[in-house]
Amino acid sequence: MNLTVIGTGYVGLVTGTCFAEMGNKVYCVDIDENKINNLKEGVIPIYEPHLATMVIDNQDKNNLFFTTNLKEALDDSNIIFIAVGTPEADDGSVNLDFVFTVAKQIAENITKDSLIVTKSTVPVGTGFKVKEIINDNKINDINISIASNPEFLKEGVAIEDCLHPDRVIIGTEDEKSAEILKELYAPFVANHERFILMDVKSAEMTKYVANAMLATKISFMNEIANICEKTGANVQSVRLGIGSDKRIGYKFIYAGCGYGGSCFPKDVKGLINTSVEHGYVPNILSMVDEVNESQKMIIVEKITNRLGNDLSNFTFGVWGLAFKPQTDDVRCAPSITIISELLKRGAKVKAYDPKAVETFKREVESDNIEYVDSKYDVLDDADALILITEWKEFRTLDLYELSKRLNQKIIFDGRNIYPKRIEEEGFELYQIGC
Ligand SMILES: NC(=O)c1ccc[n+]([C@@H]2O[C@H](COP(=O)([O-])OP(=O)(O)OC[C@H]3O[C@@H](n4cnc5c(N)ncnc54)[C@H](O)[C@@H]3O)[C@@H](O)[C@H]2O)c1
Repeated sequence: MNLTVIGTGYVGLVTGTCFAEMGNKVYCVDIDENKINNLKEGVIPIYEPHLATMVIDNQDKNNLFFTTNLKEALDDSNIIFIAVGTPEADDGSVNLDFVFTVAKQIAENITKDSLIVTKSTVPVGTGFKVKEIINDNKINDINISIASNPEFLKEGVAIEDCLHPDRVIIGTEDEKSAEILKELYAPFVANHERFILMDVKSAEMTKYVANAMLATKISFMNEIANICEKTGANVQSVRLGIGSDKRIGYKFIYAGCGYGGSCFPKDVKGLINTSVEHGYVPNILSMVDEVNESQKMIIVEKITNRLGNDLSNFTFGVWGLAFKPQTDDVRCAPSITIISELLKRGAKVKAYDPKAVETFKREVESDNIEYVDSKYDVLDDADALILITEWKEFRTLDLYELSKRLNQKIIFDGRNIYPKRIEEEGFELYQIGC
């Protein structure tokens, strides 16, 4: 099949490459010329395991093309995926400017009947607005159908998720579009069918509800951690106690310093906004977001409780800036809140992340942050270690190095990954809910 994927970010680049991997001819289109030129040279703009090799291989096989020329792509495809960003607007609503601009650009360049598939996460009803914009602005006499095919990949394991999806949600207006998308996805679900077919609006809603449910589990458990801390219970034991119940399960019930990323925060707010627009106030969702915002401050509170509010005499070693391991994405990462709050109180920060330093530098500018090249270098002259992102290389502590380099043997563990027994070695260990 010949496809165009518009938007070559985390989602468009990964899904376009995976479609190419299955033997389709894929045009990945972006307005960012620099990004497209780099991709043509095999330079990948994001860190995502296994992606670089697949991009290079599929370009070599002439399955994958990068271009800024939408017309060239549309002339040679009849399935068009929209995968541009849908960021949060200032008022918490979803900014659909990129999606609607793409709809106009499609209208101005489309020359044949096509299926327009929205892969971006968009509020209920957006697909029909896209259709209206294309039909109102098209310059050629063509027919389009629309579909919603939300994406569930997780950054860090995006290729694996894309090649072996848990399910493929296909929301269409007609059976023919559903058949086209089933055929396209058949190689991805070859061992057993995992299609879930529905109408367009329900598919759009499914994506928000999936993210909102996962975010709810996290905020719920963070709230429980805070209750555990007040009462002397240990949230780690409680997690094991409840996770063993099959109805609850072990996933997404880890207490920590809050969720971040480009999806959960904006999608929870987006769903709240959609509900309010339709006259319903969603109490649970509002609290999920609120609890998460306060949770990002928990580590800062623990630090100021221990060292005081004036941190001008302190330097903190920070491990982990990305919003989660295995990605360079720092959008809405707890590291941004935590480090900014420490800087506000006069602190100096030494930071290390295996992949996310450059992206973090674009979010927080300060002469009081020093970036170092190895995890132990953050400890030199630091008064405490703060663990924010649980990359694998941070999981095991070399207590000798820590004792030798840190000014004070204090660890703030924002992900509850260190064993209590290090307290026996003279360390002060501050965790969440235990
Ligand atoms: N990142 C994730 O983990 C993830 C997972 C599932 C769903 N989503 C959703 O997928 C969508 C895309 O997310 P992302 O993280 O890939 O975004 P991104 O910001 O990484 O990439 C968006 C890309 O679209 C390009 N773009 C903008 N306007 C364009 C236009 N008119 N024509 C061509 N290209 C254009 C930008 O230059 C950018 O490269 C969002 O709706 C997001 O919520 C993201």
